[in-house]
Amino acid sequence: MQTTRRPFVAGNWKMNGSKQLVSDVQKALDAAGIAECDCVVCPPYPFIAGFTDLANVGVQNVSALDNGAHTGEVSAQMVAELGVRYAIIGHSERRADNHESNDIVAHKVHKALQLGLTPILCVGESLQTRESGKLYEFIAEQLDAVIRLTGIEQFAKIVVAYEPIWAIGTGKTASPQQAQDVHAFIRGHLARQNAEIAESIRIIYGGSVKAANAKELFSQPDVDGGLIGGASLDPQEFIKICQAAN
Ligand code: PGA
Repeated sequence: MQTTRRPFVAGNWKMNGSKQLVSDVQKALDAAGIAECDCVVCPPYPFIAGFTDLANVGVQNVSALDNGAHTGEVSAQMVAELGVRYAIIGHSERRADNHESNDIVAHKVHKALQLGLTPILCVGESLQTRESGKLYEFIAEQLDAVIRLTGIEQFAKIVVAYEPIWAIGTGKTASPQQAQDVHAFIRGHLARQNAEIAESIRIIYGGSVKAANAKELFSQPDVDGGLIGGASLDPQEFIKICQAAN
């Protein structure tokens, strides 16, 4: 990891958690006092208000639409008004469960940026795509859909998360080299349009990260931290992962 890029670790609780977990994670974070890493927690919406420092809280999705007649949706404006700073956008589970295309994801990123949120833009391939040899094309198109709408300059305010679908929740972590290869590709792809932004953007890895493998993954030159699912539900495990990036 380049020293100029501040490490970034986010916990994605998905549809898990409780008031008890909010309080346990908040206490663990306060006690750990992690200073050299952005350490963000992304709980389901109902638990957001339980955190004392909303600047280190993110949501797992925002609507691409403005406030209005869209039952069940949550707008970027509402999230921003709360004081929350981050929004995971385009997670593969949402792309699959809610048919979020690259185009929809791009509009969500655009909306989040307009409201001053930092999007954590998720990209990543299925095993089938990887084995078909189309891995890099696939990732490039996921990035390009956003670049076309927002412009490359906006990537200065984005965190990219590389999350191979085959590694999510499976215990099958990408090897540090596999992660590094794709992270380097992403940085190189962005650099073709803006070298300065590519050098400064944080690219984090997600997919079965735990305390035991975090250090090795985060020590890769283009891996700037992690997006942590299952392991973020265990406060001590999550803290150890943040410390590995710290
Ligand atoms: P996992 O999930 O750490 O449980 O594999 C990562 C993610 O989906 O963000």
